[in-house]
Amino acid sequence: MCGIVGVLGKHEVAPTLVEALRRLEYRGYDSAGIATVNDGRLDRRRAVGKLVNLSDLLVHDPLAGKSGIGHTRWATHGAPTEGNAHPHRAGPVAVVHNGIIENYKELREDLAATGATFSTETDTETVAMLAERFLSEGCTPQEAAARTLARLEGAFALVFLFDGEDDLMIAARKGSPLAIGHGEGEVFVGSDAIALAPMTDTVTYLEEGDRAILTRTSIEIRDESGAVVERPAKTVSIDAARVDKSGYKHFMAKEIFEQPTVLADALNAYLDDAEIVLPEGLDFTDTERLTMVACGTAYFACLTAKYWFETLAGLPVETDIASEFRYREPPIPARTTALFVSQSGETADTLAALRYVRGRADRVLSVVNVAESSIARESDVALPIHAGVEIGVASTKAFTCQLNVLYLLALKAAVDRGRMSAADLGTALNELRALPGLFNAALDRDEEVADAARAMAEARDVLFLGRGLMYPLAHEGALKLKEISYIHAEAYASGELKHGPIALIDKSVPVVVMAPRDHLFDKTVSNMQEVMARGGRVLLITDAAGAAAAGADVWRTVTLPAAPSRLTPMLYALPAQLLAYHAAIAKGTDVDQPRNLAKSVTVE
Ligand code: AGP
Repeated sequence: MCGIVGVLGKHEVAPTLVEALRRLEYRGYDSAGIATVNDGRLDRRRAVGKLVNLSDLLVHDPLAGKSGIGHTRWATHGAPTEGNAHPHRAGPVAVVHNGIIENYKELREDLAATGATFSTETDTETVAMLAERFLSEGCTPQEAAARTLARLEGAFALVFLFDGEDDLMIAARKGSPLAIGHGEGEVFVGSDAIALAPMTDTVTYLEEGDRAILTRTSIEIRDESGAVVERPAKTVSIDAARVDKSGYKHFMAKEIFEQPTVLADALNAYLDDAEIVLPEGLDFTDTERLTMVACGTAYFACLTAKYWFETLAGLPVETDIASEFRYREPPIPARTTALFVSQSGETADTLAALRYVRGRADRVLSVVNVAESSIARESDVALPIHAGVEIGVASTKAFTCQLNVLYLLALKAAVDRGRMSAADLGTALNELRALPGLFNAALDRDEEVADAARAMAEARDVLFLGRGLMYPLAHEGALKLKEISYIHAEAYASGELKHGPIALIDKSVPVVVMAPRDHLFDKTVSNMQEVMARGGRVLLITDAAGAAAAGADVWRTVTLPAAPSRLTPMLYALPAQLLAYHAAIAKGTDVDQPRNLAKSVTVE
């Protein structure tokens, strides 16, 4: 996905646009660009690669103007080149875009039929050219934008700027989020409130199909039918400072190490003495089935929660990745609760899966980190995870905070379904309250993990093994490692190894075994021995009892504090995150902005 921003300001906007793009860079960083209107004249600067390249360009080739738009790109159509960088321009129109115009080929053909020629491979260029076409037919900028939007199919957040118009921006959203920032004699627009935080804390979120005609003194919002509508202005609590690294080298490191504090804050938000504080009416008494859907790390949180809902609440659970679920279109039986997990709340596949179940499931719940996100707004009940802004592309604190909320929901379901007494609930909540302290103890193992990571960094393949609650964690550990260190990693249920994957084992393949000393530990030790008998190097992540029982012969051991078995997924996530982080450092990859990735995938 991409980040877009627009400013009608009182001062030169180039620095403001670049700062806003810096805060949006986590959304995509293949190229960046800005366009401004200065004394009525539209102009632009673009640079391939990181935002710093655009900043450098602007030093040598500055761009004046108090009105401007900006974009940081994650390439969908067309390679990440300067020519394909936004803003795209056609004559007197410049536009920035987040999303995918699905009918852009048809639009290009229509335009080409009237002699238009194209200078890029992008879908966005057709948007600028359509608007130019309508302007040339005598439309006003507002009419040209409206007629252009009417031709577009797919998902988009767009901001238009026009030659000769120093006090006009037109913004539109369909499928990709867009927020309008309210200033004093200024107006802003951005992909999210994070981008706007340094300028304003008062924002209006556009709804699906909305377009906004913006001047420094007026905000006119029209819905898909063209009717003028009112959308509420909200005060958002994005702490501008919290989008900085707070002294850490990378956002990912900051977000890993702030998990004890963040989890404690999240628990404070959800616990009141011996009670779980949930939205009114959130009850599982009549629920007969739970369907959980997500992508990536959020999906592994669902896979973990499946164990909790089934063992604690006796509730049958189906889990699926959103991109499969949405096209499989599974039957949704009566008395099914559907639950969607998403850090960003904007993941296209997860949102599409949610829209599939609407009207079919009894209830649609979501567990999100962005309260105003599309998934949150389209759920019956959205449960915030209170992780704070997560910038690193690799999800860390959001994962443990997702698990926290899912665990609380599983406890609530257990109580509602008469399978957990008040006393047992009290015990479970006290165990949770102690978890931030155990997080600190786990983070104290950082150097041991870093040492193991450096020793693994040259491996071509790594296996992660886990049983029971550790099986989803094995998947999460493998995903973390591959997405930021680019080392191929795969996860297997420990018991599955001898059904084929053990053929991969030799001394060049590190095997990470995640195994607290629980009721499944001995089974996992057998699997470890099968690996070591074939020369495999085992990194055992366990507790003191596990290290004493089976740590003698392994390649390396990381010893975590003992924890209640049910809470080990949250605790064992930390060494998995650190392992990936330090392996990436050793490999010299871009930890916060790994290649080919973006923080939230708002396109299919
Ligand atoms: C996790 O580290 C990845 N960045 C990715 O798998 C992510 O979890 C996935 O894209 C889902 O994102 P969401 O939670 O914002 O929906």
